[in-house]
Amino acid sequence: MMNYIGTATSRVDGRAKVTGAAKYAGEFNASRLAYGSVVESTIPRGRIARIDTSEALRVEGVLKVLTYENRPRMAGTDQAWKDDIAPEEGSPFRPLYDDRIMFSGQPVALVLAEQWEIAQYAASLVHVEYDQQAFVTDLFKQREQAFVVQKPEKPRGDAERAYAASEVRHEAEYFIPTEHHNPMELFASTVTWDGGGKLTVYDKTQGVQNVQRLLRSVFNKKADDLRVISPFVGGAFGAGLRPQYQVVVAVLGALALERSVRLVLTRQQMYGLGYRPATIERLALGAKADGTLDAITHEAIAVTSQFEDFSRNDTGWSAQLYKCANAKYLHRLVRLDVPTSSDMRAPGAATGVYALECAMDELAVALKLDPIELRLRCYSDRDQNEGVPYTSKQLRECYRQGAEAFGWDKRKAEPCSMRDGSELVGWGMATGIWEALQMPVAARIVLTANGHAEISCAASDIGTGTYTIMAQVAADTLGLPIENISIKLGDSALPQAPVEGGSWMAASASHAVAKTAEEVRKELLTLAKKMKNSPLARAKRNDVVLADGKLVSKLDASRAVSIADAMRHGAIDRIEKQRTNRFPEDTSHARNAHSAVFAEVKVDEQLGVIRVSRVVSAIAAGRVLNTKTAHSQIVGSIVGGIGMALHEETLYDHRLGRIMNANIAEYHVPVNADVHDIKVIFVDEPDNIINPLGIKGLGEIGIVGVAAAIANAVYHATGKRVRDLPITLDKLQR
Ligand code: MOS
Repeated sequence: MMNYIGTATSRVDGRAKVTGAAKYAGEFNASRLAYGSVVESTIPRGRIARIDTSEALRVEGVLKVLTYENRPRMAGTDQAWKDDIAPEEGSPFRPLYDDRIMFSGQPVALVLAEQWEIAQYAASLVHVEYDQQAFVTDLFKQREQAFVVQKPEKPRGDAERAYAASEVRHEAEYFIPTEHHNPMELFASTVTWDGGGKLTVYDKTQGVQNVQRLLRSVFNKKADDLRVISPFVGGAFGAGLRPQYQVVVAVLGALALERSVRLVLTRQQMYGLGYRPATIERLALGAKADGTLDAITHEAIAVTSQFEDFSRNDTGWSAQLYKCANAKYLHRLVRLDVPTSSDMRAPGAATGVYALECAMDELAVALKLDPIELRLRCYSDRDQNEGVPYTSKQLRECYRQGAEAFGWDKRKAEPCSMRDGSELVGWGMATGIWEALQMPVAARIVLTANGHAEISCAASDIGTGTYTIMAQVAADTLGLPIENISIKLGDSALPQAPVEGGSWMAASASHAVAKTAEEVRKELLTLAKKMKNSPLARAKRNDVVLADGKLVSKLDASRAVSIADAMRHGAIDRIEKQRTNRFPEDTSHARNAHSAVFAEVKVDEQLGVIRVSRVVSAIAAGRVLNTKTAHSQIVGSIVGGIGMALHEETLYDHRLGRIMNANIAEYHVPVNADVHDIKVIFVDEPDNIINPLGIKGLGEIGIVGVAAAIANAVYHATGKRVRDLPITLDKLQR
């Protein structure tokens, strides 16, 4: 039965969110709550020579100042500090651990006080002296020191020779600056001291069990003694995948005081966390005059810290997407005196595909080909890298439907050839691609005789709609109205789930619910069969479904037993089942979501001010569980893409090794005035191979390609090719 799956179901948590009933990490209360404030290093590299906390401690209401010298005990091995998302190579950051300074903005002290304002004030009175060491924060200065990330790269043919022999060539370097996630909700942890060594940690995170595992190993706690809860998350964009330092520091505070502690980072302090690494991308494309590709070379150089090797797949998309016999890739890292870079909004793809799709646009110009036509001539129904077919790939339809909705056929090919009054008009397009990932997830269902079901799972809903889609799947698979379903998420004590990321949670959690509902149905059928004169006595297991609160024979709808009757006859009032869904390993197909993004920009001819007046994105991502939340996800991702194209850039003063715009006044993100007409199309993409429900997941696919489509539109409007993001008006004047 599919009453809810595939429909525009409103968020089941919507009311709680808009009325303020939904509580976030920094809002949970406890008796005798103490407040923390972090003191950060002002230098990027060196040693703490001396910390003087005496002045801070003299402030009335200050309880304690913790530093590496007086903090409670923490684990000392790298292994103990590795969370689920930690890079394989390196030594994870440990806050307040020792006197070493590894980046500007590193926490060096925690002031604990009776009031937040007191803690904040006293933090300004902690005096730190440093022995500063030589440092570097400039990627371009260090690019010669780049080292190869140990990842298998599978070249095809001979890209260099093929490139040299190509009839038409394009080679260029593209650049994506450091970007910070800037979710609306600040990173916050409220740690309640529950007595007997037990702690409850309310944390802003994309994965409560990941945080629990880390805290348990760092503080040597039993599972029962440390519970992590995060029912609602005010955005994260990847910043909440790894446990952030404030949760460790907040626990240190609670242990030191033996009372409850709240620690909320300031907006500025959040620039001391992870970020999208600045990345240099070099693309070399060689083609025949007919627009078929001969050679692809894609090289990326990205930033990481001095102490961990974070990297994501930037170049593999170029290897996978287009038909091309010769291809070569290189992914390298540069170490800088900054925090470890991290996942952010389609990590690797937002950046790598930006470069690829700008390069394809430049190649189309060189070939005098329509940019869609070029992509169609290189279209591949197989993953070029793995040499296998896709479970489904409706990218052709994305191009077609997107172009039609956008009105692409009215585009004049020449740059600077379209205008609207004093504004130049540009139309650009790009392809998007993301992985359709799926992970093991467990779900528990408790069905009561009155036809209510509670579904629980440790998964976080980071605002993407997980509560809602799980309720939809539960309602359909249990045959109940959605009002009868309640969902519990974001608690480490609940059945196992990975961090919510990579756009994998919709497919993963849905199948966990469906699989567990299957067990509930089987048990109900067993009960129903035992009833005297049961209408389902001879029904086969797979011929019976749950619908309208009843077990019903698919072959004869008059043969039915209500949930209530089945339970009453079995003398039970509830059925509880818990199952873990694992997807079978299958390398015979590639699993990807695709998109075609079309952008219109209007550029003021005198001032160079750029406006993204229209975006059309046609998405192929398998079955869309909820057209309403999915639409919101893609619109949000497109806004992120507008930010990437035109606004977002973390600026460093390399003489000081510090971020200059660590605030959302000077770190620009798109605001209402920057966001205009956005149209999202979901292309029908039946997929019987990927998983039983045909779900690929959504979210990240929405941003991939957007910055390229906008950059290509800016070129079309102005004839100026700006390859280093963001495209600000000064760059148009160069
Ligand atoms: Mo996403 S960057 O996996 O939260």
